Amino acid sequence: MERIVVTGGAVLEGEVEVPGAKNSVLKLMAASLLAEGRTVLRDVPGIVDVRIMAELLRRLGCVVEHDAAARTCAIDVPAEVGHRADYELVRAMRASISVLGPLTARVGRADVAVPGGDAIGSRGLDLHVEGLRAMGADVHVDHGYLVTEAPAGGLRGAEVALAFPSVGATENLLMAAVLARGRTVLSGVAREPEIDDLVDLLLAMGARISGRGGSELVVDGVDALSPAEHAVVPDRVVAGTWAYAAAITGGRVHVRGARPEHLVMALDKLREAGAEVEPTGTGILVQGPDRPRPVDVATLPYPGFPTDLQPFALALAAVADGSCVVTENLFEARFRFAHELERLGADLVVDGHHVLVRGRPGLSAAPVEASDIRAGAALVVAALRAEGTTAVHGVGHVDRGYEDVVAALRGLGADVRREVVEPAEALLPVD
Ligand code: UD1
Repeated sequence: MERIVVTGGAVLEGEVEVPGAKNSVLKLMAASLLAEGRTVLRDVPGIVDVRIMAELLRRLGCVVEHDAAARTCAIDVPAEVGHRADYELVRAMRASISVLGPLTARVGRADVAVPGGDAIGSRGLDLHVEGLRAMGADVHVDHGYLVTEAPAGGLRGAEVALAFPSVGATENLLMAAVLARGRTVLSGVAREPEIDDLVDLLLAMGARISGRGGSELVVDGVDALSPAEHAVVPDRVVAGTWAYAAAITGGRVHVRGARPEHLVMALDKLREAGAEVEPTGTGILVQGPDRPRPVDVATLPYPGFPTDLQPFALALAAVADGSCVVTENLFEARFRFAHELERLGADLVVDGHHVLVRGRPGLSAAPVEASDIRAGAALVVAALRAEGTTAVHGVGHVDRGYEDVVAALRGLGADVRREVVEPAEALLPVD
């Protein structure tokens, strides 16, 4: 077992680098299945989820070379690929379901374990299923697996209107549509920058897609795609993590590689809180205020405030000079983090999908537990404003989405270390 140990009080100063986006690279890796041959991805983050997706692709018959130092991932896709995504992998990483669309389109069948609920909510798959059915697939659940079968002759183009702009459903249906016969019109789609990144890779592979960046994508299916090379879009959530960390500690951080145009709402909220935020041409420079002002935040699909940055908005509110309300509109269980923040002394009340936060000048160190990737990173960041030494348990969650959070924070002047502890010792106080 490992824990991250943070001694509070540092004012972050310096520069951090943002790698390619977790939420994009996993889908790009899945998209490689659509074409026989070698697809090469660049700016690939060295995170655990990439290793899980690589394992999933290997089990489908691909040869995957992930060079963490060079930040590349080369995927050799054979002529015949398998069709099963095992429960152990889907349970470890829900994004495994993004092979559903590519496999149904290229192999004509997918058996993907049903992910079930996770720490941030129940997370339905109905939109993925309805869309594939509209394209002619038979979809049913068999012994815990979602089984899709394309009709003889393959998927066919269809008009699919999403009732909600789901990121995962948009991606799966787009990857299915590129090899379907005829035209697919996907409306009400998600508009996250990671969707544009997927569209760019698919276009490079020879797909015919129009409407990039909008809420309607029109796809004219082709018979076959070719492998391609592609650089992954920078991770806006990691960039936002560092921007909020600078603001929370009153520090000054250059977030190199951040794309301000992908973070408009999150950066506006930081400015409202009193931070100075300047695009630098190579990233963004954030100068935090001595004490943040309280700012109401409500998460919404892109370009709204990202749900993945909501825990950081809560951490900022916890040390603000006044009260505010943070509202979560996407995932019902995402406030588990709020209760861990209370362990650090935050003064808050959770009511349904709202949290009322009364800011305090500082927090106080305590042992805390990460429940998901962003909650884990936000606990580490909040601990920087806590008096004393905080142990953050559940570090495995953080590793799923962040390359080396400890090294990055040390580079910014924080007193942070990572410790391996025996399970019984994990419960003991930090020295
Ligand atoms: C992706 C991101 C996640 C981010 C989220 C929203 C990855 C690996 N994960 O998750 O970090 O927080 O987008 O920006 O890219 N829903 C349904 N039925 C469906 C599909 C979704 O009801 O068929 C609901 C979900 O339960 C959830 C909401 O829609 O409440 C948002 O889900 P979705 O946009 O699909 O997010 P993910 O793709 O799961």
